[in-house]
Amino acid sequence: MIKSVLRTIGALIVVLFSVSANADRQPLLDSKTRFHPVISQTGMVVSQEMIASQVGADILAKGGNAIDAAVATGFALAVTLPRAGNIGGGGFMMIYLAEENKTIAIDYREMAPSEAFKDMFLNPEGDVDNRKAQFSIQSSGVPGTVAGLVHAQENYGKLSLKQVLKPAINLARNGITVTITLAESLAARSERLQMDAGTKKYFFKKDGAEYQPGDVIRQRDLAATLARIAANGAAGFYQGKTAAMIVDQMERTGGLITSADLESYVALERTPVCGDYRGSKVCAMPPPSSGGIHLVQMLNILEGWDLKALGHNSADYIHRLVESMRRAYADRSLYLGDSDFFPVPLAQLTDKKYASTLRQQIDLDHASRSEDVRPGLVDRAESTETTHFSAWDQWGNVVSNTYTLNFSYGSGISVDGAGFLLNNEMDDFSAKPGSPNGYGLVGGIANSIQPGKRPLSSMTPTIVFDPAGAPILATGSPGGSTIITVVMQMVLNVLEFDMGIAEATAASRIHHQWLPDNVYYESGVSADTLRLLREMGHIVNDQPRRLGASESIEANGDGVLFGAEDPRRHGSGAVAQP
Ligand code: DON
Repeated sequence: MIKSVLRTIGALIVVLFSVSANADRQPLLDSKTRFHPVISQTGMVVSQEMIASQVGADILAKGGNAIDAAVATGFALAVTLPRAGNIGGGGFMMIYLAEENKTIAIDYREMAPSEAFKDMFLNPEGDVDNRKAQFSIQSSGVPGTVAGLVHAQENYGKLSLKQVLKPAINLARNGITVTITLAESLAARSERLQMDAGTKKYFFKKDGAEYQPGDVIRQRDLAATLARIAANGAAGFYQGKTAAMIVDQMERTGGLITSADLESYVALERTPVCGDYRGSKVCAMPPPSSGGIHLVQMLNILEGWDLKALGHNSADYIHRLVESMRRAYADRSLYLGDSDFFPVPLAQLTDKKYASTLRQQIDLDHASRSEDVRPGLVDRAESTETTHFSAWDQWGNVVSNTYTLNFSYGSGISVDGAGFLLNNEMDDFSAKPGSPNGYGLVGGIANSIQPGKRPLSSMTPTIVFDPAGAPILATGSPGGSTIITVVMQMVLNVLEFDMGIAEATAASRIHHQWLPDNVYYESGVSADTLRLLREMGHIVNDQPRRLGASESIEANGDGVLFGAEDPRRHGSGAVAQP
């Protein structure tokens, strides 16, 4: 009796539940809002540092477009995130202009000085002198950031350069409050950074003591340099007082950058590399970044399998990713460099037929071996840092930007008097064929050092479009050699696995780069999966590591934006237009 009453109640609940389920429309945002993204129906900026994101969002509120917001954020990061935000480095910006329905790729990568030469980092024994390549005054290429940001703002922004630079100038002049993250990041490199008098002056107390959380860092020299840029545009950096300070330091300390190098530096607009993944267009940077080519190449290979059916991060899925990555990075070492100096076979590498040839070489049950195993990805004591930010405005314009000093705090050397750190991007060249750089990447003649050439990059700022041509995703990441594979997994998580942006960002990632022959993975990939991969013959790293830090915005096509900062690195922020 009791049983039958319970059964009736149970049946009633099922009926009521299905009636209410039928009556309610499936909530539109359900899948998109998992893992708590920031939502906006106007605009948004996502970056590695919350104050800089807020600066960009405020610029949107003042009527600026995504380009104004991105440039304001880029300059603000030079103040608030000195380990990667910069004016002494370089990067790449992808822009989508809604009205023209046009995608633009701006290359503001650093350039080898005119006095640079192929063997400049070799010691008398013919081996690469890593200290000279990574931590000397000669480690720096001619900075491109100011040319790139000013080019974007002057050509595609709505506000004035002065307006977008003002927040950064104020932050530098009035000071920023030191966070736990900033204090720790500086303290961890105290010895190296204090070796340079300028860097010691700018980032440590007068007596050399480390800043503590809650202290205020004022960067008056940097504020003055930014003010010269606000007043004179790019000439405020590449000519006049700032240029004189750079050249003076080069001459005093054996650097190669001359005033002619600075004056001749230009940001270049290049044709984006776009591929098609199951009807969605994926656009990213062409050389001197390797990002766009290999992103498209790997997606082309992977498109041939039903990845969704394999299941996200299953062993069979990871196996296919790894084998595609292995082949793309092998090609990178041979064919990729600055296409103004070396005939990069872009069309062949991104050709679907070539991808299908590579796919056919992949044994679905067994790992292949990376040939010619060489010293691999150096597990560096020195951490590296690049930074990505994305901006989206109410008119549908989109910016996806990655820029860097290369390592954290670049070469560690500041331009004395001008208040900013110099990059160590010359290490992204192949100093000697087959010798791994700071990311374990090997290269050859395509990426050898030549005057005026731009070192090969992995930075992959990306914009994805739906089959109707509307932008649906802006993403990118730091992480040196891991950038391209991290971005690819972001694209697959969104396009293939229908994850909302926050879930796509949080999901565990894997990485392989041909050499070393090693599968890197993040915590969250199960022990069972790793066992299956080992059984297939993969060499799996003995412990998890952190891969990338994407700062992304997704649009659902109905005018709603979803932003997610990467939870892997502290301090980042997605900020909606107020
Ligand atoms: O351009 C490149 O590929 C490198 N210089 C990027 C460095 C980087 O991502 C460091 N960040 N974690």
